[in-house]
Amino acid sequence: KKPIIYITRKLPESLLQSYKEYFEFHMWKEEESSVPREILLKESKMADGLLCMVSDAIDAHYLTQNSQLKIVANNAVGYDNIDLQTAKKNEITVTNTPDVLTETTADLTFALLMATSRRLIEANQVIRDNQWKNWSPYFLAGTDIYNKTIGIVGMGRIGTAVARRAKGFGMRILYHNRRKNPEIEKELQATYVDFRTLLTESDFVVSLVPLTKETKHLFNKNAFHQMKQEAIFINVSRGAVVQEDDLFEALNKGVIRAAGLDVFETEPITADHPYVSLDNVICLPHIGSASEETRTKMIQLCLDNIYQYFYGDGPITPVF
Ligand code: GLV
Ligand code: GLV
Repeated sequence: KKPIIYITRKLPESLLQSYKEYFEFHMWKEEESSVPREILLKESKMADGLLCMVSDAIDAHYLTQNSQLKIVANNAVGYDNIDLQTAKKNEITVTNTPDVLTETTADLTFALLMATSRRLIEANQVIRDNQWKNWSPYFLAGTDIYNKTIGIVGMGRIGTAVARRAKGFGMRILYHNRRKNPEIEKELQATYVDFRTLLTESDFVVSLVPLTKETKHLFNKNAFHQMKQEAIFINVSRGAVVQEDDLFEALNKGVIRAAGLDVFETEPITADHPYVSLDNVICLPHIGSASEETRTKMIQLCLDNIYQYFYGDGPITPVF
């Protein structure tokens, strides 16, 4: 009997096709909305494996109710949406999608950094509002990227890929991480500094840390007050690494210059989110890895992880 795999979002049939002789797929019917909790719980009961999205809470309750699962393949590199301890306890393998999304996410990080520093969204809006009157010396003047200092918090794969881009832009590179990375220091002339030094010396503070107990609300009032008044904060990791009220206040009062945010503590946000009222914030709807090529590779990696678990030498990219 073929293992049953529940997929929490409608995925293209073309990607599933070649796996159908090995698995029986059950799939939520919509591409743009999450499966309701009751349906997720009910469908999972029959399943041997789960292919889920970053927006699905695979928490202790879920994993206890569905302890028969063999594998949870998360269609994301981050896995803070999954209770690893309960998965381990129930001997459920968890996989994520590293590597395939590294360059795409680094591109988005840099795009957000550039859009924020050069005020691209505001500038585009000026034309849409028919407000381009003239050329004038400081009209929509932003701030330079070249020759500035970038401080990368979380020098993993994506942080490293961002650092390579920063080097190409002639930036000085500081980083803070759990471990020093001597190879990166040599390749990119990046300098390891403590968190406080990174905050005080960087023109761009970029968060690429995973969300853990240690990084939750790492960027709080205290952190924003240590940053330069000209600093731009970029977050492409997880919303909850930021204390959002503190960031709002820092942006509103000019404690820092601007922010570019791809992630939020509670997603999705709506137009009435306080950030949206500020001109010095760019908000994106969690699109870090969203290129067509990369999203396809991520889904393929999830399917390959599941295939290799049941029929091969074990999952390709297990989390533990
Ligand atoms: C998306 O946020 C991911 O972790 O891949
Ligand atoms: C995630 O891929 C990271 O290591 O940054």
